[in-house]
Amino acid sequence: MPEHFISIADLEEGQLESILELALELEARPQAHRDALRGQSIGLYFEKASTRTRVSFEAGMAQLGGQPIFLSSRDLQIGRGETIADTARVLSRYVNLLMLRTFEHSTVVEMAEHATVPVINGLTDELHPCQALADLMTVHQEFGGLRGRRIAYVGDGNNVAHSLMIACARAGVDFSIASPPGYEVAGKYLDLAGGLAAGTGAGIETGTDPRAAAAGADAVYSDVWTSMGQEQEQEQRLADFDGYTVDDDLMSRASDDAIYLHCLPCHRGEEVTASVVDGPRSRVFDQAENRMHTQKAVMLRLLDRA
Ligand code: CP
Ligand code: NVA
Repeated sequence: MPEHFISIADLEEGQLESILELALELEARPQAHRDALRGQSIGLYFEKASTRTRVSFEAGMAQLGGQPIFLSSRDLQIGRGETIADTARVLSRYVNLLMLRTFEHSTVVEMAEHATVPVINGLTDELHPCQALADLMTVHQEFGGLRGRRIAYVGDGNNVAHSLMIACARAGVDFSIASPPGYEVAGKYLDLAGGLAAGTGAGIETGTDPRAAAAGADAVYSDVWTSMGQEQEQEQRLADFDGYTVDDDLMSRASDDAIYLHCLPCHRGEEVTASVVDGPRSRVFDQAENRMHTQKAVMLRLLDRA
């Protein structure tokens, strides 16, 4: 395991699959691991809102016998000018793990540089690696494995899209993405995914046509059009993403047994219709549950307890 979990790209070949195997075991036999992190603690630092990330880390740590400590950026001295480096050094004296959700990606990187305990990325403006683990676990559960599957992502080339693309490349899962012009995935992450895909045989395709991306896919995925921190762009984005709603017609172009995925929270009538997200193909609540199983696996691996 790497020292920190900041990007899926930190994982060596085989480590992603191994985390998913452990997550499946944790889901199947939670009681067998209830003391695995007894006496350990995790600091959970949030600059942005969260429902799933906060509660799945808190509940997951408690299920492993450890203690979560919620840290709002609004309450810490960081808001009054204490440096990230000093905060990292101090928090490392109290807790065994740190998780951060930040605006700037560089904040998580800087925290990891100065922390003496493992740091987990719980979402930045650029990446959301914990989400990607849950996404792939959900596909694995549905199809009994990952190899040979294809995930189609429709919408903004954002943090969720970046991490999902990198995870697919790392795990040998084909990935196609359709984004409106101007909202493509960042070139540096496309290059990174391309490099990983060359080693695993994953196909990575980008384009602007949702129908082409979804054609024959095993899973169709969408995320919000306006991410946290982009609220002032909302009106423009609503116009620019017109035609990128995942609806029943788009789902009918995917494979017959295709599932629908969304990291949540979702906006019915924007990036997905109610008929899809509340329909029989939707696995979004399994996906949300899987955040907890996969993050328990990450915490155990970072602390070398499994
Ligand atoms: N998917 C996700 O990260 O949800 P929260 O913003 O509720 O944590
Ligand atoms: N792209 C979204 C994901 C939320 C879990 C955001 O950053 O707001």
